[in-house]
Amino acid sequence: MSLFLEAARGGYTSRAPIWIMRQAGRHLPEYRALKERHTFWTLCSTPELACEVTLQPTRRYPLDAAILFQDIMTPLPSMGLRIDFRPGPVIEEPIRSRAQVDALHLPHPDEIAPFVPDAIRLVRAATDLPLIGFAGAPLTLATYLIEGGGSKDFATFRAFLRQQPRAAHALLDKLTAQTIAYLNSQVAAGAQAVQLFDSWAGLHDAETFAEFGAPYVARVLEAVTGAPRIYFAVASQHLDAQIARLPIDIVSVDWRRSLTDARRALSATTLQGNLDPAMLLAPRDVLRRAAERVLAAGAVGPHIFNLGHGIMPTTDPATVEFLVDLVHDYERHQHAPNASAAPA
Ligand code: CP3
Repeated sequence: MSLFLEAARGGYTSRAPIWIMRQAGRHLPEYRALKERHTFWTLCSTPELACEVTLQPTRRYPLDAAILFQDIMTPLPSMGLRIDFRPGPVIEEPIRSRAQVDALHLPHPDEIAPFVPDAIRLVRAATDLPLIGFAGAPLTLATYLIEGGGSKDFATFRAFLRQQPRAAHALLDKLTAQTIAYLNSQVAAGAQAVQLFDSWAGLHDAETFAEFGAPYVARVLEAVTGAPRIYFAVASQHLDAQIARLPIDIVSVDWRRSLTDARRALSATTLQGNLDPAMLLAPRDVLRRAAERVLAAGAVGPHIFNLGHGIMPTTDPATVEFLVDLVHDYERHQHAPNASAAPA
């Protein structure tokens, strides 16, 4: 079995497997070259191109997993939403009323982005590396749909939750059903793990997350059981108690806290993370020390090395190569809680 899947299933591996959030995309010159000839949406919606972009980082670096090249917005056009990328998502008609929510369509599962299962089958045929599928968590998708795009503080969205809570719940309910069908179609096509991105969970206080976030995440994770489930909520330390109760196999930790602290507070056996992406822009000795701190904190249990959020587009691929080699060469066993019990 691959090291990634072993760790994803809760095994203590001889070394930490590594993949990198947003590894497929803008930091790679070969991705930027394809972007000169195709729009982002063409890259996503053409299975051969999505497969090619998925594989690009795996050709350059000896990574332990591939992540499907798509966006968290991918399943939404099939609900009747018009979304543009400039380069972040822009919603042509942001959702501001119950009538707009009611007009959203829940397509037959085969009609949710059918190019995604096609791309997954192409990737599985082209590589033996485990393939991670993904989706956006309902609350994070709703953040973009109601705000209309990215924002500093998502004030329109946060106000909407208070002004029209019933419309918000109706939207979250539809997004939950769509996300379950979408993730299950990825698993059926061959995705071997799935990650739920809750990039904007941390915007909310615990009471708001308990009402609008956690119940929908729980429904998604409970309904997707065919592959290990990774949950990534950015800046969410104040939500630990709720996250610890979710049916998660792997918790992905952002860079703001230590893995030691996360392991204590959260229930998932396997941790993923959590090097600050900015460290990839630091001098090599600074990067090395920071990566070794993450590896040492991770080594007391099952750990998948990753960044604490997406790689920055200005990162030099040579630095990524240095990091992947460093993680591969790291001796974990000296750090294991019971070194003699750790498998050789
Ligand atoms: O990880 C991977 O390599 C797979 C590809 C991937 C993309 N988006 C491609 C992409 C993944 C996993 C995502 C997830 C995603 N998309 C998230 C969750 C992760 C996170 O960073 O919090 C979010 C919030 C989005 C929404 C989104 N899409 C934003 C904010 C942007 C702006 C640009 C950026 O890269 O952050 C996008 C566009 C986008 N998605 C690009 C890529 C490669 C850039 C498009 C371009 O090349 O012009």
